[in-house]
Amino acid sequence: MSHIQVLAAAKLSPLYTALIEKQHVLHDRLHETDPAAFERAAPQIRAVAASGDSRVGADLIARLPSLEIVAVMGVGYDGVDLEACRSRGIRVSNTPDVLNDDVADLAIALMLCAARQLPAADRYLRAGEWEAKGPMPLQRKMSGARLGIVGMGRIGKAIARRAAAFDMHIAYTARSAKADLPYRFVPDVTALAAEVDFLVLITPGGAGTKHLVNAEVLRALGKKGILVNVARGSVVDEAALIEALEQGVIGGAALDVFEDEPRVPARLKALPHVVLVPHVGSATTATRQAMADLAFANLQAHFAGRPLLTPVA
Ligand code: 8YV
Repeated sequence: MSHIQVLAAAKLSPLYTALIEKQHVLHDRLHETDPAAFERAAPQIRAVAASGDSRVGADLIARLPSLEIVAVMGVGYDGVDLEACRSRGIRVSNTPDVLNDDVADLAIALMLCAARQLPAADRYLRAGEWEAKGPMPLQRKMSGARLGIVGMGRIGKAIARRAAAFDMHIAYTARSAKADLPYRFVPDVTALAAEVDFLVLITPGGAGTKHLVNAEVLRALGKKGILVNVARGSVVDEAALIEALEQGVIGGAALDVFEDEPRVPARLKALPHVVLVPHVGSATTATRQAMADLAFANLQAHFAGRPLLTPVA
C-alpha cells in the first residue's frame, strides 16, 4: 500500500477503482461530493483517474497543484484539457487498441439492427403482431451496400475489415489519406455522405469534430442513408439529426452516443425505427477488464519512474 492519493474524476468502472484502491488512496469524486474535504485533500492528490467520457477541465486541474498524471480508462480523452496538462507537464494516458474489437463489433451490429430493423422486429413478435398481422414489412440489405467511415484510426480499420467480409464497398474520410489502405479516400464528409448507404462515425470527439455531421451532411446522406454513431455525441448536431429523422430526410440511425449522456431527447426515443443503445461500445467484461488493467498499468508505470505504456501527453 502506497500513500499516493488519486482522485476519481467521475463515476469509474469498479474494475478500475478496485485496482487503484488495492495500492493507493482513492478519493471518489470528492470535488463534487465534499468541497471542504476536497480542499484539504487537493494538495496531496498526484493522480486523476478518469473514464473516456469524464471531464477533467482546466478548472479542476488548476485546483490540483501536485497533479502528475491523468490516467483515462477509455480510448477517448476529449474530456481532458490537454493544453492545461501540457502546460504543467502533467502526463495523460488512455487505453487504445484493447477495445477495437468490441467497438467495431458494435458498429456492425448497429448497422445490421438499423438495416434489418431487428429491435423493432423483436418488439413486433413480443407484442403478438406476427400472429395478428402476419409478416413484418420488408427491410434493407446490408451485404454489398456502400459504407462510408468517418475516421480511419484503429477502430475505423477494424470496422472496415469486418465490413469487407460483408462485401461492402468501403470509402472513408479522415484528416489525410492512408496510403497503405485498400479503401477509397474522400476528403469531404458531405461528399462521402452523398455516395453511401451507411455512414459510420468513429472519429475522436472534441472541438475539432464538434457537429461535423450537421444538417447539410444529413441532407447529403439522404433517404437512402443510415447514420451510425459509435464515436462521440458531440460529432453530430443532435437537434439537426432529430429534425432529419422526423422529416424523413435520412433513412434511419443507430446511436451508441449522445450529446448529453445519459440524457437522450424524448423526441429521439419516440422514433421507433431509430436504434438507441446506452454507450455500450466497449461494454464487455473482457474488454473493460483489459481497459482497467491498462489504465492502472499506466498509473503504476508513472509512479515507478517507467515510461507510460500508452501516453497521450
Ligand atoms: C467508455 C469510451 O465511455 O473508450 C472510450 O472512449 O467512450 C468508453 O469505452 C468508458 O471510457 C469506459 O470507462
